[in-house]
Amino acid sequence: MQADKIITALADPGWCVVPDFLSATETAALRSECLAAHASGAFHAAGVGKGVAEVRTEIRGDQVLWIDETVAGPATRAIQEKLEGLRCAVNQSLYLGLFDVELHFAAYPPGSGYRRHLDRFQSDDRRTLTVIVYLNENWMAADGGQLRFWPEEQAEPIEIAPTGGTLVTFLADRFWHEVAPAHRQRLSLTGWFRRR
Ligand code: OGA
Ligand code: MN
Repeated sequence: MQADKIITALADPGWCVVPDFLSATETAALRSECLAAHASGAFHAAGVGKGVAEVRTEIRGDQVLWIDETVAGPATRAIQEKLEGLRCAVNQSLYLGLFDVELHFAAYPPGSGYRRHLDRFQSDDRRTLTVIVYLNENWMAADGGQLRFWPEEQAEPIEIAPTGGTLVTFLADRFWHEVAPAHRQRLSLTGWFRRR
């Protein structure tokens, strides 16, 4: 089962990549909902930092849409349920005390990326586990947009292609990562399981 593998990896080394976390059908349905919301103009430029976040596209060029009941279509609700199952399974095995999840769609326009960072805010340590699910069809190496991820005590990052259906998850306070500039629109669903 996927959850068992994820739990084992989160215990050590604290991160994992799961190709085919979503089937091609689930991914396509979620991509459609993401693209429909994007076409309706619901996304806004992502900010840097917490609270009145500043938009600084040279650091972070994506646009996001936070997901709530008004936004979530059937495919989105299905993945919310799947992630809820993962949250409960992780809590039972690892005692991380994950209390809730905040989720957004992200769309990187061509030319944009996200410079090297950690996901936990200095002023707010609730974000505990990052989950990213990619929604892109036929992503090619030439499309750029790799997730560069630094496993602990490793000078060179590994590169993960944002292939549709792939899940990346990691402990939010421990791993530096960045998004290389994408040469075509790059879509994902990204979220954080939080402690209270
Ligand atoms: C983020 C982030 C990585 C990715 O949204 O904080 O680092 O591969 N995303 O989309
Ligand atoms: Mn991040």
